[in-house]
Amino acid sequence: MTSAAVPGSRAPGPSVAPVHVEAELLATRRLGAYRLLTFAAAGVAERFRPGAVVALSLGPERLARRSFWVHRVRPVGGHGASVDVVLAPGAPGSGSAWLAAQPVGTRLPLTGPLGRPFALPREPVDCLLVGVEASAAVLFPLAERLRERGCGVHLLLGARDEAHLLSALEARRTARSVTVVTADGSVGRRGDVGGALPERVARLDPDVLYAAGPLPTLHAVAAAAEAHGAWSQTAVEVPSPCATGLCHGCPLPVVGEDGAPREVRACTEGPVVRGDRVRWADLTGDPWAGPAADPAPVRAAGPAGERP
Ligand code: FES
Repeated sequence: MTSAAVPGSRAPGPSVAPVHVEAELLATRRLGAYRLLTFAAAGVAERFRPGAVVALSLGPERLARRSFWVHRVRPVGGHGASVDVVLAPGAPGSGSAWLAAQPVGTRLPLTGPLGRPFALPREPVDCLLVGVEASAAVLFPLAERLRERGCGVHLLLGARDEAHLLSALEARRTARSVTVVTADGSVGRRGDVGGALPERVARLDPDVLYAAGPLPTLHAVAAAAEAHGAWSQTAVEVPSPCATGLCHGCPLPVVGEDGAPREVRACTEGPVVRGDRVRWADLTGDPWAGPAADPAPVRAAGPAGERP
């Protein structure tokens, strides 16, 4: 079991039962280098918790589904609550181009919310949310939920350039502080989140680090949390062909609570897992991936079977 945990929280457990609906594409617009798609999906938004995903079936010629982080849920007149997802340009054949070209009014099978969401602290603690490019979409509803709980929310957002930076202005409305880094220096500091992370952690002294982005970023955040004595929650993106736990096509190497290495299904036991439980070397292929990849350092369990 790789249940995520943060101070004073219980493991989040599986998401509430998902629903399978025919979603209607209500709106589509450019968002920098991305497209923002808004779906009416009855019952999905009402069940949503930050970190959960929705799975879309992309036309009859594609058997595999695509999973998306939910960027936002909000009420829409006449449709109940709607679901926003961020579509990044994908590899040829990934379905991104097809999906981006669909007109408003298109109806697609959608299942959600799926997977384990982020664990939320019961007490108001300081949280650093680290996100890279389109993956940062999942952190925005999380930031809102944390702020509602009185947590200090700090964001570290990174991208290759301004066009790939997601909603930094919106982030400033939610977070106590926002740090932006871009590889080309077009906005914020020049650099990457890995480089900015040590200074942010040292200055903010967060109790919990949440991360969404490529594997090296997730691993860097998990390692920084370990070094700082903080908790980490990582949103791991593993292709999920069925997204319902049936096909076993989304293996995620982790360390169990007994210290033994095992694989879990990212779509049901993830996609959010504790950073100290992921065997990063087995995901990244990097034998020097560091102590977070070592099965040994699972810490003593706390009173609720969780890390103290
Ligand atoms: S994608 Fe099929 S089990 Fe996870």
